Amino acid sequence: MRDFTFAIVGALGNVGTEMRGTLEKSKLPIGNLVMMDVAENVGQVVKWRDREISVVEAAADAFAGVDIALFSAGEGAALELVPEAVKHGCVCVDNSTAFRGSDVDPLVVPEVNAEALTNHRGIIANPNCSTIQMLVVLKPIHEKYTIKRVVVSTYQAVSGSGQAAVDELHAQTRAFAEGRELEVNVYPHQIAFNALPHIDSFVANGYTKEEMKMIDETHKILDPAIGITTTTVRMPVVNGHSESMNIETEKPFEIDEVRELLAGSRGIIIEDDPGNNVYPLAINAAGQDPVYVGRLRRDESIGNGMNMWCVADNLLKGAALNTVQIAAELIERDLVRVPGDV
Ligand SMILES: NC(=O)c1ccc[n+]([C@@H]2O[C@H](COP(=O)([O-])OP(=O)(O)OC[C@H]3O[C@@H](n4cnc5c(N)ncnc54)[C@H](OP(=O)(O)O)[C@@H]3O)[C@@H](O)[C@H]2O)c1
Repeated sequence: MRDFTFAIVGALGNVGTEMRGTLEKSKLPIGNLVMMDVAENVGQVVKWRDREISVVEAAADAFAGVDIALFSAGEGAALELVPEAVKHGCVCVDNSTAFRGSDVDPLVVPEVNAEALTNHRGIIANPNCSTIQMLVVLKPIHEKYTIKRVVVSTYQAVSGSGQAAVDELHAQTRAFAEGRELEVNVYPHQIAFNALPHIDSFVANGYTKEEMKMIDETHKILDPAIGITTTTVRMPVVNGHSESMNIETEKPFEIDEVRELLAGSRGIIIEDDPGNNVYPLAINAAGQDPVYVGRLRRDESIGNGMNMWCVADNLLKGAALNTVQIAAELIERDLVRVPGDV
């Protein structure tokens, strides 16, 4: 197999840093790695494996010779640069919302719908972080028992809002402990010692954009027939999103059978021994690749219902790791090419 030239766009950001780390550990055939970021950061040197790599400006011409670009520079950068990169024959995997709703560009969680990559036109969208970990769990359940409806509430970490939010949580916590006034800049309210039922902006139906992303992306990736309703909440947690899921299926199940099914499914680790206080925790999931599932129990209020608690690192499986796994699937399926008509 030949070596590939990779690029990370937004290489110095939170997700870009995790992408570097994930690529460093991966066994992918990476011949060359190009680090791209904004002009102000050009010339900064980043260590990667045994190499020292200088950051270059993310601009159209920088994509010449790049086979696969992993984007984590936000929607504006993606809308401007992804089409330019594709013109250079570069396949782009983008973390922003720019291409998620597209009818032609696949939106992919490798454990769920890797086959959607087959007819890509040079652009693959990486789903929302909360959607990714939820769908890794829903997929095997849907395949075996056919999901009718999901009710999900999220408890999301501040690292999903970038480094400024992480800094603000730390600063507010310190100020609170020292009896000083708390400064509020990133969120509409204090995040330390609080829970904000507000992620992204509100839309006309009363949901937030984050909630609608989870609904729309589930329909695009898994099945438009699944009924799903969501409430997304920002918590004073640095890293690791948690989700409470209530799932109703068409077919009957035994709860032990579901536990066994999930335990044998790709990307999932079961942590479910409540008698010994064992269940998934954000502080344990942070820095880890899997999606953790616990508190699995029957919903006794309906016929075929179950409840569970699901936790994953939002910067890894929710962003960088999923992107790198998409790149791995592209290589394995011999899909690192851009069709001539794009
Ligand atoms: N899968 C998910 O749901 C998920 C999860 C987390 C993040 N994301 C996406 O990933 C993006 C990055 O998130 P993050 O937390 O890593 O943010 P971040 O820490 O702010 O990092 C973004 C990086 O991209 C750089 N950048 C900005 N505009 C650029 C451009 N035009 N060209 C090249 N680089 C540019 C930034 O530089 P400056 O700081 O100098 O502006 C920064 O280094 C987010 O905007 C979001 O779209 C997706």
